[in-house]
Amino acid sequence: MSELDNLIKNRRSTVLFEEGIEISESELEEMFALNKFAPSAFNLQHTHYLVLTDDAQKEKVYEASQQYKVKTASAVIVVLGDVNAHHHIRTINEGLLNLGVLTPFQYEQESQSVTEFYETRGRFFQREDAIRNASLSAMQFMLIAQDRGWDTCPMIGFNAEELQQSLNIPGHYVPAMLITIGKKSESKQRPRGYRKPIHEYVSFNKMHAE
Ligand SMILES: Cc1cc2nc3c(=O)[nH]c(=O)nc-3n(C[C@H](O)[C@H](O)[C@H](O)COP(=O)(O)O)c2cc1C
Repeated sequence: MSELDNLIKNRRSTVLFEEGIEISESELEEMFALNKFAPSAFNLQHTHYLVLTDDAQKEKVYEASQQYKVKTASAVIVVLGDVNAHHHIRTINEGLLNLGVLTPFQYEQESQSVTEFYETRGRFFQREDAIRNASLSAMQFMLIAQDRGWDTCPMIGFNAEELQQSLNIPGHYVPAMLITIGKKSESKQRPRGYRKPIHEYVSFNKMHAE
């Protein structure tokens, strides 16, 4: 088995974290410096991470989630997707324009077509795409964290509106999920849940009947 195979097989959603373990901003920054290479639609990089290490801030997440592990995690990370990510297509491509990789004509064309792509599909699609892109980034982040000896749990059990208000998250960001990160407590672990065999969740060439 490769290192990646092991990493994937050993990742578990942490039920409870060891209390009192700190994670430094510099270590988190190292992880995010690697995580930025995640793919995103049109390279728009829709994802924003709000990292909470402060107890008072974590308490607000506890209030909005009522999940105890939030209190014991070293950090709670709110994974946000920007529904307005396409507004930044010009800024994102400026570097390629300045390097001459994109001609001014190509730059204009790309800016217009990406803007049109999102504007014609509307707010529902923009929201979906924000969550889609943030979710891919979040999965990669969890594997990076695991590789560095940290345990994580993705979480959707929270009141998004309450969280958005108490943490002053601007309305154009949609919370895709929370990630709690820390060192798992050996005292509490669930056995691995059932996984569907391949033939139940993969179809080749055409969908198989349910
Ligand atoms: C999008 C998403 C949301 C989840 N939300 C929660 C949650 O709110 N609380 C929790 O304890 N676990 C949550 N989980 C963890 C799942 O329960 C867990 O991934 C699943 O049972 C499989 O277990 P494993 O990750 O250990 O393999 C979530 C997982 C995902 C992917």
